[in-house]
Amino acid sequence: MKSARFATLCLAAACVCISPALADGHAEKAVKARKAMMQVVAFNLGPLGAMAKGEAEYDAEAASTFAKNLEVLSKMNTAAMWPAGSDNSVLGDKTRALPAAWAEGSTVMEKHQAWTTASTQLAAVAGDGLDALKGAIGDVGKSCGGCHDNYRAEKK
Ligand code: HEC
Repeated sequence: MKSARFATLCLAAACVCISPALADGHAEKAVKARKAMMQVVAFNLGPLGAMAKGEAEYDAEAASTFAKNLEVLSKMNTAAMWPAGSDNSVLGDKTRALPAAWAEGSTVMEKHQAWTTASTQLAAVAGDGLDALKGAIGDVGKSCGGCHDNYRAEKK
C-alpha cells in the first residue's frame, strides 16, 4: 500500500510539472531538499556512532535526543522530494539517486521502512546505557547501507 501511495505522489508530481523547464527546476529543488535531509540524518547519527565506538563519552540525554531526531526524520513523508525524473540518468551529476529506485519492482519503500523500524528501536533504548545503544545502532547503520547499496550511485 505504501509503495502505491509513493507511486501516486510521483505521478502527481510528474503531472504538475508539464513544461520541461519547470520540471527541471522542480526536480532540482527536490534533489537539494533530499540531500539536505540526508545531511541532517547523518548529523544526528554521527555522535551516536562516536559514542558506540568509544570515540565520545556516552551521554544518555544526548543519545536519546539524537536517536529521537533520527526516528522523526525516518518517519517524515518525503515522497515529494523524490519526483519521477529526478534520478541520475536525467539529472546527471546533480544527483546520485539511481533510476532503479523508481523502476518496477523497486524495493525502495521497504528499505525506507527498515530504516524507520531500526530508528524507532534505537530511539526507544538509546538513553538506557551504552550497551543498549550499541545493541540497537547496528541495525540503523545497516538500514542506511541497505538503501544506498541498491539505489545510490558511488561517489565519483
Ligand atoms: C530508502 C533509501 C535510503 C535510506 C534508508 C537512507 N538513504 Fe541516504 N541517500 C539515499 C539516496 C538515494 C541518496 C542520494 C540522493 C541524491 O543524490 O539525490 C542518499 C544520500 C545520502 C547522503 C549524501 C547527501 C548529499 O549531500 O549528497 C548521506 C550523507 C546519506 N544519504 C546518509 C544516510 C544515512 C546516515 C542514512 C541512515 C541513517 C541514510 N542515508 C538512509 C537513500 C537512502
